[in-house]
Amino acid sequence: MTQTPPETIYLADYTPPNYLIDTVHLTFRLAPDATRVISRIQFRPNPKAENDQFFLHGEGLTLISATIDGAAVTPQPVDGGLTCPVPNAPFVWETEVEIDPAANTALEGLYMSNGMYCTQCEAEGFRKITYYPDRPDVMAVFTVRIEGDAPVLLSNGNPGDTGKGWAEWHDPWPKPAYLFALVAGDLVAHPDAFTTSEGRQVALNIWVRPGDEDKCAFGMDALKRSMVWDEEVYGRAYDLDLFNIVAVDDFNMGAMENKGLNIFNSSCVLASADTSTDADFERIEAIIAHEYFHNWTGNRITCRDWFQLCLKEGLTVFRDQQFTGDMRGHAVKRIDDAIVLRARQFREDQGPLAHPVRPASFVEINNFYTATVYEKGAELIGMLKRLVGDEAYDRALELYFARHDGDAATVEDWLAVFEETTGRDLSQFKGWYELAGTPQVRVSETWENGVYTLHFEQETQPTPGQSDKVPMVVPIVIGLLDETGVEVVESHVFEMTESVQSTSFNGLKNKPIPSILRDFSAPVSVHRDTTDAERTLLLAHDTDPFNRWESGRILVGQTLAKMATDGASPSTQMLDALLAVARDDTLDPAFRALVLSLPSQEDTSASIAASGRVPDSLAIHRAHETLRQAIAQHMQDILPRLYATMQIEGAYAPTAVDGGKRALGNTVMRLLSQLDGGTTAQAQFAAANNMTQQVTALNCLVEIDKGADALAAFEAQWSHDRLVMNKWFGVQVQMAQPQHAAQVAQRLTEHPQFDWKNPNRFRAVMGALAANSAGFHSEDGASYDLLADWLIRLDPINPQTTARMTAAFETWKRFDVDRQARIKSALNRIQSSANLSRDTGEMVGRILSA
Ligand code: TRP
Ligand code: ZN
Repeated sequence: MTQTPPETIYLADYTPPNYLIDTVHLTFRLAPDATRVISRIQFRPNPKAENDQFFLHGEGLTLISATIDGAAVTPQPVDGGLTCPVPNAPFVWETEVEIDPAANTALEGLYMSNGMYCTQCEAEGFRKITYYPDRPDVMAVFTVRIEGDAPVLLSNGNPGDTGKGWAEWHDPWPKPAYLFALVAGDLVAHPDAFTTSEGRQVALNIWVRPGDEDKCAFGMDALKRSMVWDEEVYGRAYDLDLFNIVAVDDFNMGAMENKGLNIFNSSCVLASADTSTDADFERIEAIIAHEYFHNWTGNRITCRDWFQLCLKEGLTVFRDQQFTGDMRGHAVKRIDDAIVLRARQFREDQGPLAHPVRPASFVEINNFYTATVYEKGAELIGMLKRLVGDEAYDRALELYFARHDGDAATVEDWLAVFEETTGRDLSQFKGWYELAGTPQVRVSETWENGVYTLHFEQETQPTPGQSDKVPMVVPIVIGLLDETGVEVVESHVFEMTESVQSTSFNGLKNKPIPSILRDFSAPVSVHRDTTDAERTLLLAHDTDPFNRWESGRILVGQTLAKMATDGASPSTQMLDALLAVARDDTLDPAFRALVLSLPSQEDTSASIAASGRVPDSLAIHRAHETLRQAIAQHMQDILPRLYATMQIEGAYAPTAVDGGKRALGNTVMRLLSQLDGGTTAQAQFAAANNMTQQVTALNCLVEIDKGADALAAFEAQWSHDRLVMNKWFGVQVQMAQPQHAAQVAQRLTEHPQFDWKNPNRFRAVMGALAANSAGFHSEDGASYDLLADWLIRLDPINPQTTARMTAAFETWKRFDVDRQARIKSALNRIQSSANLSRDTGEMVGRILSA
């Protein structure tokens, strides 16, 4: 049999559903390898339908019986589902199917994790549970009955009747099938309660495996803070009597916003001082907020089709970023977000996987849950808010919620509420949704007869399938400083709309120093030739914290690129500038930690590639080590005292203030390790009373190749804790010396606790290998081969996780011909493996077509 190539789906081909659904009744008779699912669906013809064909999605289902209005029918199996002649009037469709959750390793549909039943239906997993129009524009009211011997039986909505071995659930809010969820197992609740601003009493629970009860309190607190925040900031209250969160060990991504029953990767909800780092706490808080915020931006207003994914994801990421900023401080949050955007989204935009925030086509939608859709999608919301102003943004959101509540909406609907509330024409802005690529903005200046002019030019490189780009609307926040560092022109937005444009300033005594793209006001790259002296002045005096950090980052980044390419040494001026930041006790420690941490080796590699040269990962690795050594030496007089003043007496608290002190203390510890051979790190490792202090010390020791004892001690202490053990696996691979990375990873795959079917564990090793820049790109290609071997092995088990991890290869065109050839042969090997999934096939095909 020849395989038909997988079909490409186009946004332009959208047609409305032929049949709509009023109500769905589902009965689950749970059994690990033979679960029966009985559905009763009330259909009616859609007046907007273009034809009367009846099609239901279904995958891997064994059909037991089907009836229409009580009479047996024999549906026609077709590609991806079934069809059947149906009445030209409302009718009741009933089927019984059998599925095998125990054999479901893809973690999509109904599957089992540690003996517990759970579901994951976004984007197209519901079709693995029963026959259904599995598309987000078909919304229905679900009633669910679960029969099974598990002590806890959960589904969406409000609880209904329950008895021994069964429970019923009713969700009054119409929803698409992707928001359906079911959980059944031996779970314990961490309960709480919340009263909404509308007076609704809501029971809250975080459900976990017995033994994890002590790791729920922080998540619960984050949930309640999210509920208050959405009421206060967006006027959105919760709308059911119950909100459940369940922690699951085997999960492909972070978490899922199923209505009233959010399901979380256990790594994204379980938290304790002993087992979680500051970064984990912050991430957990943000993800809990994110999933909760989806209740309005995603669930009450959903997406018409999967091309509109950014409608819910970009907006919800933007909202969780605002929340984190409010909880923990906006300056540091904005810098963190810019670091992530550049590391992941700019990288994506730069390579063969570049795609618009709203793609025009896809083969497998799971491959489009990307940094572009999520993080760049959030940037578009931020730009829109900046362009229309905060007050107009609030009014537009009010209208969006009022008009589209209960709808499956589009990006056009979203932009229309802004156009209507502000009178602004957003047709050019829409380009941000439709064109891939990061605009490159080149800036130059003139100073003539007392007039200072900034000249801007924007250009976006071609991306796959899009050779012609048009200018974007770029909100560029600008301020000006004088030569002593005093601000002479405050921040204001310059709206760039053309390819070439300038803006002038009068009335200045002297030529000023510009601070451009303050607050990272647009997801663009700015290029401007200037002096180290100017950067140093901005690092010392800019009133905008983002650009203050950015000036330091450019100084250090350019130094690293020069060191790695032509063996330059760091300038004393730059080292002095960093020293001045380190000793400035008026600055927030978290901010100082960000200034004093080097960019990643991957950042350096990308910037060398962007300048048209071939990055040498090993030389970059050495440059980073050398620079860290130089900084440490330059600061050696202040480091011990700075380290000491950042130590916190007393109990651990996961607050931004304490976390900031730990971040700076640990940045200093890493520098000190260059001088003291690891004695500070060893002492910290031994004395640590929380995971942040323990694991950062371990990192440091492994980095300087003195980790053996600490690794053994850590393993002995934590071998019972699967989440902590992920850190143990990860650190060894990520911090391994480049020439050993592949071997370390390979050896760890033989460890008894390397459970490769668990995505967290697989990523802990293979994700860490890809993140060890010099180790991954080691000259012999050993890491490429190892990763390819494991992706080939994982693909038949879990296509979604395999496909995501192929992005490790997306930068391959940056490298020298030998490495390119090695990567290409690894990719070819994946591509030619038998029965390759559609997910991985699409990714590898796109990467290779570079
Ligand atoms: N909608 C989820 C979120 O962003 C993400 C998601 C999509 C997901 N598909 C998934 C999560 C599959 C887990 C598994 O919050
Ligand atoms: Zn989301």
